[in-house]
Amino acid sequence: MSDGQLTQRKPDASAFVIFGVTGDLAHRLVIPSLYNLAAANLLPDRFCVVGVARNGMSNDDLRDSLMKGLRQFATRPVDDAVAKRLLECVTSIEADPKDPASFDAMGERLEKLETNRSTGGNRLFYLATPPGAFAPISRELGRSGLLREKNDAWRRLVVEKPFGTDLGSARALNEELLKILDEHQIYRIDHYLGKETVQNILVLRFANGMFEPIWNRNHIDHVQITVDEKLGVGHRGSFYDSTGALRDMVPNHLFQLLSLVAMEPPARFDAHTVRSEKAEVLAAIQTQSEADALKNSVRGQYLSGKIGDAEMEDYRKTEDVRANSTTETFVALKLNIDNWRWAGVPFYLRTGKALGIKRTEVAIKFKEAPFKMFACTPVDRLSQNYLVISIEPSEGITLQFNTKVPGPTISIDGVEMQFRYKDYFKAEPATGYETLIYDCMIGDNILFQRADSVEAGWQAVQPFLDAWSRAAANGMEYYKAGSEGPACAEELLKRDGRSWRKL
Ligand code: BG6
Repeated sequence: MSDGQLTQRKPDASAFVIFGVTGDLAHRLVIPSLYNLAAANLLPDRFCVVGVARNGMSNDDLRDSLMKGLRQFATRPVDDAVAKRLLECVTSIEADPKDPASFDAMGERLEKLETNRSTGGNRLFYLATPPGAFAPISRELGRSGLLREKNDAWRRLVVEKPFGTDLGSARALNEELLKILDEHQIYRIDHYLGKETVQNILVLRFANGMFEPIWNRNHIDHVQITVDEKLGVGHRGSFYDSTGALRDMVPNHLFQLLSLVAMEPPARFDAHTVRSEKAEVLAAIQTQSEADALKNSVRGQYLSGKIGDAEMEDYRKTEDVRANSTTETFVALKLNIDNWRWAGVPFYLRTGKALGIKRTEVAIKFKEAPFKMFACTPVDRLSQNYLVISIEPSEGITLQFNTKVPGPTISIDGVEMQFRYKDYFKAEPATGYETLIYDCMIGDNILFQRADSVEAGWQAVQPFLDAWSRAAANGMEYYKAGSEGPACAEELLKRDGRSWRKL
């Protein structure tokens, strides 16, 4: 994680090898991020990009296709000279994990390229592929020796999400990878950690003296983590229908937010210490019995409705979604963290598709002030004290507190003090992947998930997966596209005398 803006050192000379280079992720995020790094002069001086695809493509065809993607997905106007310089570094190589000889041949071509470009043997392998390919590709990279670090040259592997589909498969994938690589060589990406405000949670909590003393069960009533999306499932029906909202969002993105908010202060700002504290707090999430998991969760699926001006059809009518699907497109959970700081402070999480607004935020609700002192005044209630860390639709931090309404009588109203990133800092529009890719290249894995965190995350959600799979359609709630989600999500908090924060 860069200390300050991306004004630091250039990464070591290296080869950047992309598996799945013909796919959406490479076109939409990886290449536009490399372009932004190139524009900021933050790519290595000696560098090459190797695009690996199963069906061989000429260099020219691959470069054309990536250029087209760049024009479509760049976050800023494309400077042709910068784009040309980047794309000239691209070489297309054909390899298929089902054909071991193709990996050996790839190794030979890579070595030649590395000699021509003087990249010193440092290699970053980026798996921008469907998850089913992570293990077979890694196995082949391991077998062919391409990942072996030697003569001071580093070898790294970047793995996209989803990392497993449950606790068992995540453990199995970790085991496979750790047979081939050391943990320090593995970069498990969660794009939420590329977001400025998400990184800022650490700074807000630990670079300010005033929050830590009140950041505990003595002062905090509960925490809400919300990731509401307007988008439906679109063309991802097949992936989504076998995944669902819980697997897609909770053990990764929502738990990144939760762990940053709930972790203990790390003694040092380094990868080992920060990641250990994050893993520790995830491991402290109470494992619920199946009965509790059913009581403490709401799952929903969207029906047709209007989102703004756009009509959304029933989830079950989406292309590649089963007509009788019981996959959830909305989930709300109540979790407890069993440690000294958080005992008795519920963490409520919710996320869903096809909702009325796009909103990502963490709302920390402080305990209410005693009302007694105002009982003899016209004030009938105090509004709530929230500290809200907003990631969408705009990045910033808001503090809600009570203030006296001007006038001769005592009247109190809730007001907001707001910090918005865009009012203070000018940042070039970015994909959010730049910091992550840059960090992989300089070997800083503070923003990447370690094996133990990934497994702790799955461990916490496994009871919900098990309980729902046994319950099938029982307990599924339906909600109208464009709404706030199923009504039962309100009930989850209401029965504790609480409610979700309204906008
Ligand atoms: C992805 C999920 O990981 O995150 C998508 O697979 C989801 O389903 C997306 O839409 C949300 O990311 P963001 O950055 O838009 O909140």
